[in-house]
Amino acid sequence: MDSMLPAMLPWFEDGKFPLYLAPMAGFTDIGFRKLCKEKGADVVVSEFVLADAILRGDHKVWNSIEFTEDQRPMGVQIFGSESDVMAAAARTIVDRLNPDFIDLNFGCPAKKVTCKNAGSSLLRDLPLLGSICESVVQVLPDCPVTAKIRIGWDSESLVAPEAGKLLESVGIQALAIHGRTKAQGYKGDANWDIIHETAQEISIPVIGNGSIASGYNVGELRERYGVSGLMMGRSAIGNPWLFENIKSLLATGEPAIPPTVEERWDAVLRYADIMRGHYTHLRTDRLLGIMKGRLVSFVAGFPGARQLRNRISRLTSFEEIEVLRDESLEALKRVEGRVARVEG
Ligand SMILES: Cc1cc2nc3c(=O)[nH]c(=O)nc-3n(C[C@H](O)[C@H](O)[C@H](O)COP(=O)(O)O)c2cc1C
Repeated sequence: MDSMLPAMLPWFEDGKFPLYLAPMAGFTDIGFRKLCKEKGADVVVSEFVLADAILRGDHKVWNSIEFTEDQRPMGVQIFGSESDVMAAAARTIVDRLNPDFIDLNFGCPAKKVTCKNAGSSLLRDLPLLGSICESVVQVLPDCPVTAKIRIGWDSESLVAPEAGKLLESVGIQALAIHGRTKAQGYKGDANWDIIHETAQEISIPVIGNGSIASGYNVGELRERYGVSGLMMGRSAIGNPWLFENIKSLLATGEPAIPPTVEERWDAVLRYADIMRGHYTHLRTDRLLGIMKGRLVSFVAGFPGARQLRNRISRLTSFEEIEVLRDESLEALKRVEGRVARVEG
């Protein structure tokens, strides 16, 4: 019966074609999600958190899923292998944070996750995967539940279409598919034909994921593979402008104007400001420790990137980030001045 079908998630309504920032442990923190949102990401998702850790009240884990109102629609992603624990964790998150959706991870290939029969390991046990989803959906009448899978465990078991049908039947409202198998890890081509086949089999929105970058023919992905949205991961790291660029490519076929080094430094400072403003309870050294890897990703490709990386690894205060910006832009001006003199 139509009335029994769950409502379409608003970010897919009226032919909208949302761009998702992929969940990425260690990168998609509150500051980076916010930057991506400001640069055109439509939907953001927290990094995955272990359901048991949520129930234990682990502060670090709870910190990683906090979000601000301007990040909506925002999903919180959980993983685990026990239906009751997953359901209880999802309920606790919804009661405390009221995210726009709970996302269930069935894609992580890391050994420490699969050895507990969680993440992509559940692609080898579809009955358990289905029962986990069903339990979570049942305890969340007030919050949509979505899922993220890989296309299968290995090339011999491409279960995405079968998993997609199962997930739809138990009430999952959207499905992100990373077009690689667990065995592929992050290498090799994403298999968009299987994503397409799955999208054909089910009526819930399918979000395509796997190596989408600025140079990609994103218009073709939208037209050919029946997806309702795209999800970008690694190519967004240090590059929140990816989203405006893909939007521009989809709208006009032309790329957006790339950011200048100055604009990229502005983003670094903005990121630092957001993190500092949010994590007021953390000591500076601890917060900078969390941020260093992410700051390094922003300066990749800057003139003098190697030196910048070293300086970032030794940061002891937020003020030093501004000093780094000033020195870097000064050095750039000197180089540009020399080039102009040579050319002139
Ligand atoms: C550093 C890193 C951390 C990731 N963490 C998560 C995660 O927490 N949850 C998840 O579903 N996928 C995670 N992924 C997978 C990405 O969401 C995405 O599916 C994958 O990187 C493929 O997309 P891409 O080729 O655009 O990067 C992670 C990937 C990377 C590189």
